[in-house]
Amino acid sequence: MTDDSPLLELVGDEVPAVSDDTDPSIRLSLVIPTYDEAANVGRLVRRLHQVLAATGVGFELIIVDDDSPDCTWKVAAGLVQDVPSLRVIRRTGASGLATAVICGWSHARGDVLGVIDGDGQHPPEVVTDLLAAMDGQTEVAVASRHVDGGGVSDWSAIRRLLSRGAQALGLLLLPGTVGRVTDPMSGYFLVRRDVVAGVDLDPVGYKILLEVLARGEVRRVAERPYVFLERSEGESKVSAGHYVGYLRHLMRLRLHPLRSRALVRYLLVTALALVADALAFLWIFDRHGWNLTRSAAIAGEVGILLTVALHDLWTFAGRATRGAVDRIRRVLGAQIALGLLLAVRLTVLNALVNWFDLGPLAAFLIAMAAITPASHLLGSRLTWRGVTS
Ligand code: GDD
Ligand code: MN
Repeated sequence: MTDDSPLLELVGDEVPAVSDDTDPSIRLSLVIPTYDEAANVGRLVRRLHQVLAATGVGFELIIVDDDSPDCTWKVAAGLVQDVPSLRVIRRTGASGLATAVICGWSHARGDVLGVIDGDGQHPPEVVTDLLAAMDGQTEVAVASRHVDGGGVSDWSAIRRLLSRGAQALGLLLLPGTVGRVTDPMSGYFLVRRDVVAGVDLDPVGYKILLEVLARGEVRRVAERPYVFLERSEGESKVSAGHYVGYLRHLMRLRLHPLRSRALVRYLLVTALALVADALAFLWIFDRHGWNLTRSAAIAGEVGILLTVALHDLWTFAGRATRGAVDRIRRVLGAQIALGLLLAVRLTVLNALVNWFDLGPLAAFLIAMAAITPASHLLGSRLTWRGVTS
C-alpha cells in the first residue's frame, strides 16, 4: 500500500500485476489471505510480528480479506495499533485464494514476497527459516510437509490420499514444474519479487506456488520443513470444486506459454507476414523486374519486420514489459535469427531455380514453406521466451 492508512478498501475483482516498486526499508512482505478467520488472525498476526521483529529485518504483514461475513477485515484492522507492521486489504466483489495472494503482492513493497495461511495451520516460526533460505541464489523458499522434519499432524487417510493423488497427477501433467519441489501444494512460501514482477500470473484455483514455478523464471528453490497444524477455529474452505479448479489449472499451465489469445494472435501475425512476404515478392519481381534474389530478400525482410513489430506491439503486448533495452535486445535478436534463415531461404530459392529449373514463383513458395517452420522455432524460442514465460 502506498498510503499510510492501515485499511485499504478495494472493489471489484481486478488483480493488478506485481510491480517493480519497492521500499528499501522493507525486506519481506508476507501476505495472509483470509476468509472467515476472525477467530484466528489475532494470535497469528501477533506471533508473526514477534517472530519477524526478532530477526531485525524490515517487514510488513498484509491481510487480504474477501469481505468475510465474520468481518475478519474489521477485526484485523483493529489489530493495527498493536501490530504496526500490519496492513489490511478488504476486497469486496472478489474472491479466491490465489487472486487474494496476488492482490496482496501487488500492494506489497518488500523485496521478498510471501504467503501464509490465516488460520494458524502454518507455524509462524518457520518463516524465519524461509527468510534465511532466501540468499542471493535462491528465488523461492517453500515450507514443505514432505522433507525431513515436516509432516501433517492429524490428517485422515482420505485427505492424505487426495493430497498425494493431486501431487501425482501434477507430476504426470507438469513434471518440470511439480517435480521441482516435494510439496507443490504448499500455500506457505517466499518468492523474490523479480520472479513475479510484471509476470502475467493467471490465478485460477488454489495453487499459487505452481503458478509461480511455472511462469516465473526460477533457477533455485529451497525447501524447509514444517508440520501442518490442526485448525483450532473455523473450517477449511477446500471443497470438491477446488479439485476441479486444480485440474483446470494444471491443464492451463500445460498449454503455457502460448495461452489461447496469444496463440490466435501469433497465428494471425504469421499468416499476415507470409501473405505480405509473397505479395511483396510478386510486386517487386514481376512489376519492377528486379532479380530473383534481391526481390526475395526485400520481400523476406518485409515479412520479418512485420512479424517482429506485430508480436512486440500486439501478440505479446501487456506481458512483462522489461524496459526499452529488453525490447531492443528482442527485436535485434529476432532480426538476426530470422535474417540468417532468410539467407538460407535465398540459397534454397536460387538452387531450385538454377538446378531444378523451377519457375520463380513455385520456387519462392517452396523455399518459403521449407524455412518457415524453422523461423518459428527460432524466432519464438530465442527471442520471445522472456516475454512469454
Ligand atoms: N482472501 C481469501 N479469499 N482467502 C481465502 C479464500 C478466498 O477465497 N479461500 C481460502 N482463504 C484463506 C483461508 O482463510 C486460509 O487463511 C487460507 O486461505 C487457506 O485456506 P484453508 O481453507 O484453510 O485451506 P486448507 O487448510 O484446506 O489448505 C491449506 O493447505 C494446503 C496444503 O494441502 C492451504 O495452505 C493451501 O494453500 C495448501 O495448499
Ligand atoms: Mn487451513
